[in-house]
Amino acid sequence: MTDDRRHPIFARLYPRMDAACARAGGGELRDELLASARGRVLEVGAGHGANFAHYPATVTEVVALEPEPTLRARAEAAARDARVPATVRPGLAEDLDVADVSFDTAVVSLVLCSVRDPGRALAELRRALRPGGELRFYEHVRGDTPAMVRYQRAVDVVWPYVAAGCRLTRPTADRIAASGFTIRRRRDFRFPGERSLHPAAPCVIGVATRD
Ligand SMILES: C[S@@+](CC[C@H](N)C(=O)[O-])C[C@H]1O[C@@H](n2cnc3c(N)ncnc32)[C@H](O)[C@@H]1O
Repeated sequence: MTDDRRHPIFARLYPRMDAACARAGGGELRDELLASARGRVLEVGAGHGANFAHYPATVTEVVALEPEPTLRARAEAAARDARVPATVRPGLAEDLDVADVSFDTAVVSLVLCSVRDPGRALAELRRALRPGGELRFYEHVRGDTPAMVRYQRAVDVVWPYVAAGCRLTRPTADRIAASGFTIRRRRDFRFPGERSLHPAAPCVIGVATRD
């Protein structure tokens, strides 16, 4: 069995979409996500490595997993330029090839929308973290009004086919809290602005600790 998840068109477009997001403030969000992160870090679904430039010097090592081969190759190049030691390998969040309690920090950014089984991914991240270790999360999530959720559900009929399996209506913060983590910090917002009507605009960013 292979851990590869091939989405060649998405993989070619995503770095450009992310660059547009960075111009709209996405880089500051990555700084917020990773501020004061420390120790040995496991990042799942690292994409093309957009977080690597944002890790602070308090991080000693980043082990990054990415199942999409084109994105993984881009992430390997980004790892070579990173300020902290970073290695990239294939791997799925739901089936981590890492030892128990071997990381201080785990990072998910715009990933739990796309994994096939978010509950299993969170159980695996919990297994990999030491007690008290931190899960840093930045995800787009289910909207907070019935009208927004209806809109997201309608778009979600086609969205996963054009966005590599991404889902719009996942209540990711609730799922984190129900998976053996305590949410210590959380900020809900819409990206790129509070008036955005983009179906992936509702977002949450924060820090949870492994119980
Ligand atoms: C929208 S991209 C986000 C990439 C990156 N984390 C970022 O912040 O730019 C979603 C990523 O999740 C990855 N992904 C999808 N399913 C996954 C899984 N089951 N396990 C790990 N990564 C997965 C995709 O290959 C893709 O790189």
